[in-house]
Amino acid sequence: MSNSETVLLVGGGGREHAIARALAADPACDLYACASNRNPGITALAAGFETIGETAVEDIVAYATDVGADLAVIGPESALEAGVADALVDAGVYAFGPGADAARIETDKAFQREFMEAESIPGCPDFAVFDDMEAACEYIDAYDGDLAVKPAGLTGGKGVKVIGDQVNEDEAKAYLRESDYDRVVLEERLVGEEFTVQAFVANGDVRPTPAVQDHKRAYEGDEGPNTGGMGSYSDAGPELPFMTSEDYAEAVEVLEAVVDALPEYRGILYGQFMLGEDGPKVVEFNARFGDPEATNTLPVLNTSFLDVLTAARDGDSLPRLEFAGKATVCKYAVPEGYPTDPKSGAKITVDEESVGDALLFYASVDEREDGLYTTTSRSFAVVGVADSIAEAEAQAERALAAAGDGLRVRHDVGTADLLQRRIDHMNELRG
Ligand code: AMP
Ligand code: GLY
Repeated sequence: MSNSETVLLVGGGGREHAIARALAADPACDLYACASNRNPGITALAAGFETIGETAVEDIVAYATDVGADLAVIGPESALEAGVADALVDAGVYAFGPGADAARIETDKAFQREFMEAESIPGCPDFAVFDDMEAACEYIDAYDGDLAVKPAGLTGGKGVKVIGDQVNEDEAKAYLRESDYDRVVLEERLVGEEFTVQAFVANGDVRPTPAVQDHKRAYEGDEGPNTGGMGSYSDAGPELPFMTSEDYAEAVEVLEAVVDALPEYRGILYGQFMLGEDGPKVVEFNARFGDPEATNTLPVLNTSFLDVLTAARDGDSLPRLEFAGKATVCKYAVPEGYPTDPKSGAKITVDEESVGDALLFYASVDEREDGLYTTTSRSFAVVGVADSIAEAEAQAERALAAAGDGLRVRHDVGTADLLQRRIDHMNELRG
């Protein structure tokens, strides 16, 4: 039995509610949390909560010190970029999450690709970095093939434009000229099926979790603008139905190669992969759990998250992870108009009784005295956990009865139809 540990969780989204639930499942965890919004799921699990912005470094450190935190888990990338992990470590709190420098693997897409090239990390697409938007436009004109246009900095997953998919060449050039980006990455358009593999990393160990597929497009059938993610699913084993175990192993090898090159890395390393005819290529790395992917992964993790954290802090080898062997399907309810023109500040209701055997994760909602209000981001997720994706999907769908008016859902996430389209797409690409 471990002694009790005081843990500070930074962040107030669905991902952080899933982290809070996993931490609080261990009776040895005294959980405190801070975020810019009051997430009722997190406040119900935490011994204390303060409204503090995710990038308010000094206030976060002061709160950690105040509650006597031994450990901290940092949910959002904005906090990592702001140096929250560095400041906590300086104050003597072990932060599970990289310092701002290592977090550039996510927060600076130019660094991410240059790092991959310099360290010979497998799966790097052809790319070029530009500070001059006219030079970038000329590169588009001269390039033989389609390109993805990616601002180097953080855009909440909404800044990437793919030529031949969301935009044509002229629209991509207009986008570069009209936006005020300082630096962009242009890279080979990858074609295939996307999947995510997240790993717990510390002390040079990499402990991967099952693959997840997120759904970034706002509307059913993968139409509309990119979002932070409308929903996601995972299978009972490590792979997804359109992947082989070799594909999964290759993705894990990529994450291991990153950690070989960054041996001090600590926290979650998230790989976003495009599975095409010649195996997985890297779309990007993130330096934290995915949202929604954390809501798939943590509910099936049977190993105590707190045990992973304490091993990480104590310089020990990380425990081998055990999973429940269940499939999961997450569906997000988002405000009307999300992501382009989200209706924030709208009062919503969530009927917890209707969730049934599924899990409910509150996200970017704000609990006020008279009820629950939307923000500009996703409101809540329901997650079905069952023996098959089909059963988990049905469970999630039933749970959506919890959603009151003013919310929108992508009902196709995890459906048999959508899965079959993924499998057919892969078969087509692989001949
Ligand atoms: P990111 O912000 O890097 O996650 O990109 C957001 C989304 O843009 C990804 O999930 C992909 O769907 C798409 N994307 C990014 N890079 C590429 C690429 N090189 N080829 C095709 N699609 C891409
Ligand atoms: N679901 C994508 C992300 O968290 O970046």
